[in-house]
Amino acid sequence: MRQAIRGLCHAAIAAGQSARGEALMAPRSCAPIAARIPGAGDEGAAASGGSNRARPFAFIKKVPGRHLPRRKSSMTKSSLTIATALLALCAAACNHDRESKQPTASGDEIFQLCVSCHGPNGQGEQMFDAPAIAGLPQWYVESALKKFRNGARGTHPGDQTGMQMRPMALSLHNDADIETIAAYVARMTPPSPGPTLEGGDASRGQSLYAPCTACHGQDGTGNEQLKAPPIRQMSDWYMLTQLEKFKSGARGTNPKDLEGAQMRPNAVALADEQAMKDVLAYVKTLK
Ligand code: HEC
Ligand code: HEC
Repeated sequence: MRQAIRGLCHAAIAAGQSARGEALMAPRSCAPIAARIPGAGDEGAAASGGSNRARPFAFIKKVPGRHLPRRKSSMTKSSLTIATALLALCAAACNHDRESKQPTASGDEIFQLCVSCHGPNGQGEQMFDAPAIAGLPQWYVESALKKFRNGARGTHPGDQTGMQMRPMALSLHNDADIETIAAYVARMTPPSPGPTLEGGDASRGQSLYAPCTACHGQDGTGNEQLKAPPIRQMSDWYMLTQLEKFKSGARGTNPKDLEGAQMRPNAVALADEQAMKDVLAYVKTLK
């Protein structure tokens, strides 16, 4: 079995993700994978069941069906998703001392794990539902990665896109790696994507944005004390997905997600998709 997993690791790495290949290939037991990766619940919650050696493969087979919206499925996207899922699986096999103060790789090396979805400049790829991460503040990236890792985000059945990100956060070896990649991403130049959504009315959106200023600021630059990220540089398509998820409860309802709980009522207060598009049309005018 370990042989087979290693074969898969080779395949994943050959699929363009070789940066941390050597660390990933360290000959360690693959048993913890079964306990950790496929679980939709809390981190480590499934760890008691011993090693169910069939599960890693069950997870892999599930990837295309569960994670890919039909409308967008393509060979490229499915093979990419499978490759990254495999990689996460391999990395999780070596995922030991999470509290370690020593990063296992440089920011540049870790970033190679992110490129396939978030793009070479961290500018985001709508085709993969992956937002821009370049230039997000370090505190927010760290917080987001830890939430994906501990299941506060990306575990709700209604959160398909969060579930694609979660294995990537689980594949990071320890807190020091999270800090390293967060600092690296924060130093990158933020993109300034134009509007992609149609039918939003920025003047109606301006009044809808009034309550948002309390946390995200008049100019949309965010507020670290309140844990509200900057939003003016975000793609509108990504923000629409997030507002919909906050409203439906797919994000911001996990008891561990304190900041999401702060945000959620504000999305609930937006009456419908039109109101969301209006407020986002206004956010896109912020300079
Ligand atoms: C398999 C594709 C994929 C890979 C690889 C990937 N991500 Fe993501 N990431 C996503 C998707 C999809 C989302 C959007 C999740 C959502 O909708 O909530 C996301 C969201 C995020 C967010 C949250 C952004 C926000 O504004 O809240 C951060 C931070 C992030 N990714 C960092 C990373 C880092 C760092 C790496 C590399 C270690 C990485 N991602 C690798 C797909 C990926
Ligand atoms: C009470 C403070 C507060 C108010 C008011 C507020 N937000 Fe937020 N918002 C937050 C926090 C905190 C987060 C980060 C949640 C997390 O860490 O996952 C957030 C996250 C978001 C996100 C997701 C960002 C990402 O990178 O994934 C969007 C989009 C957003 N807010 C838009 C809005 C809009 C639009 C309004 C007004 C209708 C609004 N917010 C009002 C606190 C607030």
